Amino acid sequence: MPDAFSVLPEIEKALRSYVQGLQAGTNLREAISYSLLSGGKRLRPVLAWHACVAAGGDPDNVLPVCVALELVHCFSLVHDDLPAMDDDDLRRGIPTLHKHAGEAMAILAGDAMMTLAFEPLTGPAFRGHADLSVRLVRELVLATTGMIDGQVYDTIPNTVPGATPIERVKTIHTHKTGALIRAACVMGGLSAEISRGGPLAPDEVNSLGNYGSAIGLMFQIVDDLIDVEQPAALAGKRTGKDAQAGKLTYPVAYGSADRCREEVAGLLSQATASVSRFGASGTALRELASFLATRVR
Ligand code: IPE
Ligand code: IPE
Ligand code: MG
Ligand code: MG
Ligand code: MG
Repeated sequence: MPDAFSVLPEIEKALRSYVQGLQAGTNLREAISYSLLSGGKRLRPVLAWHACVAAGGDPDNVLPVCVALELVHCFSLVHDDLPAMDDDDLRRGIPTLHKHAGEAMAILAGDAMMTLAFEPLTGPAFRGHADLSVRLVRELVLATTGMIDGQVYDTIPNTVPGATPIERVKTIHTHKTGALIRAACVMGGLSAEISRGGPLAPDEVNSLGNYGSAIGLMFQIVDDLIDVEQPAALAGKRTGKDAQAGKLTYPVAYGSADRCREEVAGLLSQATASVSRFGASGTALRELASFLATRVR
């Protein structure tokens, strides 16, 4: 694991304290807690943290964004695993939420996490920063809708725009996974405005967005490779399922894992180049990109 993940304890602490303060009935709270506090790589919060650092910000100010991102991500996983979707029974090494708490509760806890995600972005941390709060909410609205669009393309037959299988799978992946990862980078960067005392330049936001788009697509290509190559015990989720479900994945569209790895290498170069402008403060983002290119879980 690269040093970039040394911030995990602070992210976990923010998530735990969020759950402690949650106003909801006992069963709903338990279901949200089961999903939100079940580990996971916390990649999107870690990216937001280091995008904030790259933009010269104080990472204390990025924690509401970290919580918001992980709430949307966990909602997406809970619904992705439902019987009507990928019908999975294992997530992060433990039973999926619908196996643990029933299908109705999994649907409802997912609904709750999606809407709750917007609360940290509008809370006391943004007093005196109303304009920033609105821009963060807008980023998350667009990314969440992009993710859901991608899940539609992935799940419902004949809905994917694109002429060739490669164009179609790129559309699926840039939406279902890329949109939220891109938003993590942009929203993390925008959080730096609080300690900088003024807005980021548009080209700083673009650099973080381009980095996020490149690693977002790369992340899902690697996820497809993990599904083909890794055992469930390592991945923490069932593997070998994409082919069984007839999913259009990168290995299917490109015909070989080696060709996918070439694509990953190209996206890694693009990502690294996009954040070179940040110099030493972008080191963690560059390390994260390299790690994500070769991860096995
Ligand atoms: C899994 O995401 C779903 C995809 C978008 C591929 P992660 O691999 O980030 O899952 P966790 O959060 O680490 O469990
Ligand atoms: C899911 O993609 C993307 C989401 C929006 C959750 P997958 O269906 O490939 O994710 P895993 O493999 O179940 O984690
Ligand atoms: Mg899926
Ligand atoms: Mg799935
Ligand atoms: Mg997958």
